[in-house]
Amino acid sequence: MNVLVVGGGGREHAIIDKLSQSPKVGRIYAAPGNAGIAELAECVPLAATDLKGIADFVDAHPDIGLTVVAPDDPLALGLVDLLEERGHRAFGPRKNAAIIESSKAFSKELMKKYGIPTAAFHTFGEAAEALDYVRTAPLPLVVKADGLALGKGVIIAQTREEAEQAVREVMCDKKFGAAGNRVVIEEFLTGREVSVLAFTDGKTVRPMVASQDHKRAFDHDEGLNTGGMGTFAPSRFYTPALAERCMKEVFQPTVAAMNAEGRPFKGVLYFGLMIDGEKVRVLEYNARFGDPETQVVLPLLKSDLLDIFQSCIDGTLEDQPVEWEEGACVCVILASGGYPVRYEKGKPIT
Ligand code: AMP
Ligand code: GLY
Repeated sequence: MNVLVVGGGGREHAIIDKLSQSPKVGRIYAAPGNAGIAELAECVPLAATDLKGIADFVDAHPDIGLTVVAPDDPLALGLVDLLEERGHRAFGPRKNAAIIESSKAFSKELMKKYGIPTAAFHTFGEAAEALDYVRTAPLPLVVKADGLALGKGVIIAQTREEAEQAVREVMCDKKFGAAGNRVVIEEFLTGREVSVLAFTDGKTVRPMVASQDHKRAFDHDEGLNTGGMGTFAPSRFYTPALAERCMKEVFQPTVAAMNAEGRPFKGVLYFGLMIDGEKVRVLEYNARFGDPETQVVLPLLKSDLLDIFQSCIDGTLEDQPVEWEEGACVCVILASGGYPVRYEKGKPIT
C-alpha cells in the first residue's frame, strides 16, 4: 500500500523510516517532507496546513491507501475530518478530539471534571483579571497561552514582574496570536518529567517506550522553554509499577473522558507527565507523536507500524501486537543561533 505522511520534520522522518521497514508499504509520499525524508519518500511541495491541497492530492492519487497526519496544526484544523469526508483513510484524531492539545483550557477542564491528576489552575479570558490574579498568587507561576504556540507558549515566572510581563505578552501583545486570547495560569510543579506516547483506537491504549525531553534552550536546564532540544528513551524514572498506575489513573481515564464528551480519540495521544515521588500529574496532552520524542521511540518499535496505524483506525488495537526492542536511543537537536526567539531558517546542513 502507498502512504502519504503529512509534515516535514525529524518526527516525520522517523515515522517514514519505520514505515519503510514494513513489507506492506510500497511508495511513500511526504507533504512537504525535507531533504532527509527525500532519501526515503517522494516529497510533494504542499504545506502541512494546506488542507485542500493535500485532500486534492489524495483524490488525484487513488494508490494512496492511508494518510498519516503528524503535526498539530493540520489536526487542529480538521485534515483528518476532510480526508474522511472525501472517503479516504487517515491516521490521527478528528478536529473535535485534537482539541485536547489545541486548547489548554479544554484539557485542564477535562482533567478537573474527570479527576485526572494535574496542577491546580485558573483560566482567564481578560488580561486585567489575569494581572490581578498574578499580583497575589503564590510564586513561581506558570503562564500558558491557551492555543497552539509551537511548544513555546509556556512561561515559568519566578517573580511577579515576570508573571505580569508574561500575561501582557501573551494576552495584550498577542505574541502567539489568537492562541493568547485566553491564558491558563497554574501552580509550578517539581519532579521528573516523562513523556509517554500511546497508540489508541478510542478503547484500547498501548503506551510506547517512555522518553524524556529537554525543553530548555541551554545546558543545565537554563534558558527559555523550546519545542524540545533533545530526548532519550527509555526513561529510567518510569518503572513498571508507575506504568501500571499511569494506565489506571491517567491513560484509560483520559480515553474514557474523551468518549464521554462525545470526542472519541483515535491516533497517538501524548501524555506529558510530572513524577514527584508517589505523585503523578499531567503537565500536558498532545494529540500526536511528539517531536523530538518520536525520533527516540519509533526506532525501538519491533512491530509493523502500518499494521498498528490500521488497527487504531479500525478499532482492533486490542488484538494488534505492539512490541519493543531492548536498548536505548538518544536524539540531539541542532538549532540555529537565537532559537527559540529570533533565528535564521533554511541554512544548509552538510
Ligand atoms: P506544556 O506545553 O504545558 O507541556 O509546557 C511545556 C513545559 O513547561 C513542560 O514540559 C514543563 O517543562 C514546563 N511546565 C509546564 N507546566 C508546568 C508546571 N505546572 N510546573 C512546572 N513546569 C511546567
Ligand atoms: N516535544 C514536545 C512536543 O512534541 O510537543
